[in-house]
Amino acid sequence: MAENKVLVVYYSLDGDCDLIARDLQEITGADLERLYPESEPHGKGFGKIFIGAFTARIGLKVRIRPLKHKIEDYNTIIIVSPVWAGTFPPAIGTFLKKEHFTGKDVHLLASSGSGEASKMLEQMKMALSGNNILLDLSLKSPLADPDRTKQKLEEFCLAFF
Ligand SMILES: Cc1cc2nc3c(=O)[nH]c(=O)nc-3n(C[C@H](O)[C@H](O)[C@H](O)COP(=O)(O)O)c2cc1C
Repeated sequence: MAENKVLVVYYSLDGDCDLIARDLQEITGADLERLYPESEPHGKGFGKIFIGAFTARIGLKVRIRPLKHKIEDYNTIIIVSPVWAGTFPPAIGTFLKKEHFTGKDVHLLASSGSGEASKMLEQMKMALSGNNILLDLSLKSPLADPDRTKQKLEEFCLAFF
């Protein structure tokens, strides 16, 4: 694997992380792997947030669809996750538990609403401990300003690509 092959793995319920992943694909030529859990909160408003937050806080185990790409085929893995109740959603938890990242450069990207993502990033790093976690970036409501989001992602990618 002479070239830097990049895989972006992401979960998105409301589109923010999907935008981030697609921008990263445009900037780096990465392949995209979207995670699909067997269940996720539906609908709108408080009920959806409440259920999602609860599932994240208890570390609910969900099954995810088999991945289309093999982690071992890539040198660089970028994991993009929304913040749910200060932590990562169950689909990301399952992915972090199931896959191995030995010898990979791993970067983390967080998307939150108005809150901070630092606690979630720490938890992701703990779940990935022993691996080569290099950079992280957190963005707030990326869909609210797609141009600014793209610009921040371009700056982020310059550091490793
Ligand atoms: C279940 C749930 C819990 C959330 N918890 C938080 C939170 O604790 N802090 C925060 O800033 N945003 C929170 N948000 C907002 C999301 O992190 C934010 O909108 C993110 O960009 C969503 O990414 P997505 O559109 O790719 O799903 C929550 C959203 C949902 C659906």
